[in-house]
Amino acid sequence: MSGPDGLVVLEHPLLQHKLALLRDERTGVKEFREVVEEVATLMAYEALRDLETEAVWVTTPIAPARARMLAGKKLALVAILRAGLAMVDGILHLVPAAKVGHIGIYRDPDTLQPVQYYAKLPADISERRVFVLDPMLATGGSVAQALAVLKKRGATHLALLCILAAPEGVERVLGEHPDVTIYTAAVDERLDDHGYIVPGLGDAGDRIFGTR
Ligand code: PRP
Ligand code: URA
Repeated sequence: MSGPDGLVVLEHPLLQHKLALLRDERTGVKEFREVVEEVATLMAYEALRDLETEAVWVTTPIAPARARMLAGKKLALVAILRAGLAMVDGILHLVPAAKVGHIGIYRDPDTLQPVQYYAKLPADISERRVFVLDPMLATGGSVAQALAVLKKRGATHLALLCILAAPEGVERVLGEHPDVTIYTAAVDERLDDHGYIVPGLGDAGDRIFGTR
């Protein structure tokens, strides 16, 4: 399903089932991390349906066959640390040749402003189609900053995969980066006074890594 231009809400039943597991406060660290990885695979499968292909000939055990193989821009996955890390392997199962970059950003708990502390990106990022990975889009500050860093490095073909989004974050990211497509499994009601998504799933990083 599409929302405003640039927002794609993925409603596949498998995704929605796994999202329910992530929301459930009884889901422990091990299962939470595994399900985040599975959700990332399913989201990427949907988001990559427009990948370019080219015609090739292969020989089957029976006869030559016209087939299609991937072509076009190469891919880069850029995880926003920490929580985005848990999405990387799930997508590499589908596109193992993708290069992986990392941008370290945390949200100041008092001001909710993003604080960047790290960036390591593929040297040829400007030539790649880039998927930014972060399970949570709350105020949108962290993702907006990551996208700005990527654009400064020359990236032009950008999309975001986030498992859950708040309306505030969607509005901010599409306002500052109207060229970017946001793929998410759900847009929740709102943010609370501490910037947490309601009903959300809690603190994604803490639930993935077992911290508090
Ligand atoms: C979380 C989450 C996003 C950010 C979303 O990270 O993984 O990066 O908050 O919030 P925003 O949209 O309001 O910027 P957090 O700041 O908790 O950092 P961590 O993953 O290092 O714990
Ligand atoms: N970061 C999270 O991990 N969860 C939220 O609800 C908001 C920001």
